[in-house]
Amino acid sequence: MMADEKVKIIENVLIAADTYRMVLEGRLTAEMKPGQFVNLKVEGYTLRRPISISSYDKTSGRFVLIYKVLGDGTRKMSEMKPGDELYALGPLGNGFPIEAVKSAVLIGGGAGTGPLVQTAEELLKTGAEVSAVLGFPTKADVYGVNEFKKLGITPFISTDDGTEGFRGNVMELIKSKGLNAEIVYACGPERMLMAVEDNFDRGYISLDIRMACGIGACMACVCKDKKDEEKYYRVCKEGPVFKIGQVKI
Ligand SMILES: Cc1cc2nc3c(=O)[nH]c(=O)nc-3n(C[C@H](O)[C@H](O)[C@H](O)COP(=O)(O)OP(=O)(O)OC[C@H]3O[C@@H](n4cnc5c(N)ncnc54)[C@H](O)[C@@H]3O)c2cc1C
Ligand code: FES
Repeated sequence: MMADEKVKIIENVLIAADTYRMVLEGRLTAEMKPGQFVNLKVEGYTLRRPISISSYDKTSGRFVLIYKVLGDGTRKMSEMKPGDELYALGPLGNGFPIEAVKSAVLIGGGAGTGPLVQTAEELLKTGAEVSAVLGFPTKADVYGVNEFKKLGITPFISTDDGTEGFRGNVMELIKSKGLNAEIVYACGPERMLMAVEDNFDRGYISLDIRMACGIGACMACVCKDKKDEEKYYRVCKEGPVFKIGQVKI
């Protein structure tokens, strides 16, 4: 069940350019599924900040958020210290369904890499062969390699300027490696998700769209069905994860 809980910060460290890894502890970890998010109350702001749950450990109650400093709210988060507390509403959204498949490719772009870590762990538990392809603007932005290596996956990296890994975007990298799988799981910027939709038939994408309530009550986050003009989805409630081909990006 969803809860609004005061959670304690265990760790909050810089891991790449303007990118932080925050470890939190709370009872709401017990309910988490890969690809869900929490809506954080940052002191001084009425609107909460939605951040994906990168990974969790149900035994210790700890969960990890990976976030990029974009504006005032995330800047304030980056200044918080271990021992500080904040309210987290969650877990929210539907998350990535873990399907029984032989092979899966996880595709992450920038801040969208976070939620793929727990997704990888859950897919590995089913015995699937999992590869990860992560794209960033430049070397200084790259993160997540260690998280995937801990799971036994060496991710393929692309940077737009070629300062680390493949020069180009994730889709070009996937094509150059001839990577294919039964299913893909993707999270990242809109342009990347559109390319994933164009190139794969089976899988899931996670949308990042401006939200307010985060619980399906305000309609701030709607997107349209890909085929039916009259049909809408609330990204916070019916998403943020959608099947490939389901929504108009
Ligand atoms: C389901 C979901 C999961 C997300 N997961 C992550 C993640 O794992 N890591 C990460 O770095 N970012 C993530 N984001 C984006 C993150 O919510 C924004 O970067 C953040 O809210 C910006 O807040 P700010 O105060 O720094 O920026 P400001 O621009 O000052 O924010 C002003 C308002 O706009 C909202 N807002 C601004 N940008 C976004 C955005 N891109 N998406 C949604 N709301 C926004 C803020 O929540 C706030 O209410 C996610 C967004 C969604 C919807
Ligand atoms: S943010 Fe309020 S309905 Fe989705």
